[in-house]
Amino acid sequence: MSTLSNPFLISNYESKEYFCDREDELQQLLRNVENNANTTLISSRRLGKTGLICRFFEHLHEEKRIATVYIDVYSSRNIDDFIHLLADGILRKFTEKTPIGKQFIKILKGFRAVFTYDDISGTPQVQFNYQTVNDKEYTLQRLLQFLDTQPLRVVVAIDEFQQIAEYPEKNIEALLRTQIQQLKNVQFIFSGSKKHTLTEIFANAKRPFYASTQFLTLKSIDKEKYRHFIRLNFEKGKRTIEEEAINYILNWTNTYTFYTQFVCNRAYLHKKVTVEVVKRECAIILNEQESVFLQYRKLLTAKQWNLLVALAKEEKLNQFYSKDFMTKYKLGNSSTIKRMVDALLEKEMILEENSTTETTYRVYDIFLMRWLQRTYP
Ligand SMILES: Nc1ncnc2c1ncn2[C@@H]1O[C@H](COP(=O)(O)OP(=O)(O)O)[C@@H](O)[C@H]1O
Ligand SMILES: [Mg+2]
Repeated sequence: MSTLSNPFLISNYESKEYFCDREDELQQLLRNVENNANTTLISSRRLGKTGLICRFFEHLHEEKRIATVYIDVYSSRNIDDFIHLLADGILRKFTEKTPIGKQFIKILKGFRAVFTYDDISGTPQVQFNYQTVNDKEYTLQRLLQFLDTQPLRVVVAIDEFQQIAEYPEKNIEALLRTQIQQLKNVQFIFSGSKKHTLTEIFANAKRPFYASTQFLTLKSIDKEKYRHFIRLNFEKGKRTIEEEAINYILNWTNTYTFYTQFVCNRAYLHKKVTVEVVKRECAIILNEQESVFLQYRKLLTAKQWNLLVALAKEEKLNQFYSKDFMTKYKLGNSSTIKRMVDALLEKEMILEENSTTETTYRVYDIFLMRWLQRTYP
């Protein structure tokens, strides 16, 4: 068992010891794999998709029945990048020291691929030289076929999958769908935060991926479970935290994973955590972020900024066009407001959340929301 100096992680996944709940989601991912179903994993940014994938993969590694490949395609701009990231991901998994890795490298060399090694980490990287468009499709097919012929079943997670909607190639979805459909041994998790884009890809009857996956939408972690997780970790670290202080953290961060982790991480610097200690740490966090927030203001029009301030003050809003809201903040008529809301949604400054009963809006970044509330009281 590893011992970290701070159990509240705010960047990478470490192990299930430092991971709060998500048991139901884990079970659903397992069930999907058992049923040969692919999964589309959706939530807003920083709620815990990547963490959940890591948690799931840790579980699969323990069972040793299934191999896993993880790629993050956030940085990809076209199909070439996608193939490149997939090859790197496979190579990270089946290293050149293993027989399978050797076999994979042999296949890659068949495509005249060139290998380079990252100076610092020493991880291998693959460069392809395509002659024709068909070359690319064939390369992608061979990479997937390689996985399909492994003795273990394989789960491939493609994180930030919405990125493929930005590729200039028009047929990427059809191409991927056709190739994926032929695989017998490989399951996929398509993960991303742009709900609208992903729903279009996977739930529009006119698109290739239609009805080919099970949806898994992450929600905030249950408050009681988070409370328990926080208390437990403070106890393990021989620290005390007041119940009131935990409440304050959960409310101030809306029990939104990244922000809750962040504040807990800071609170953990203290041996005895009271509400006052937490409030002080929260204020420090906002001070640290201030220059970033001021930068945001430069990127928005004055009116958009005013709308964001108004939304922060309301904390949560069902209706931008209600008489109350419009007379209170004087932001213009409903069509002006609609244009601003659309722009802020597009810039991911505002988050739209849908439940079966209602749609609500709030400032996307919780720290920004708290900072706006503090700055414009
Ligand atoms: N269940 C969890 N328990 C504790 N920390 C978590 C959990 N899920 C995510 N985190 C942490 O929260 C942060 C945001 O999670 P991440 O998985 O990166 O979100 P996403 O991929 O949805 O943007 C990360 O620092 C991660 O370590
Ligand atoms: Mg992520």
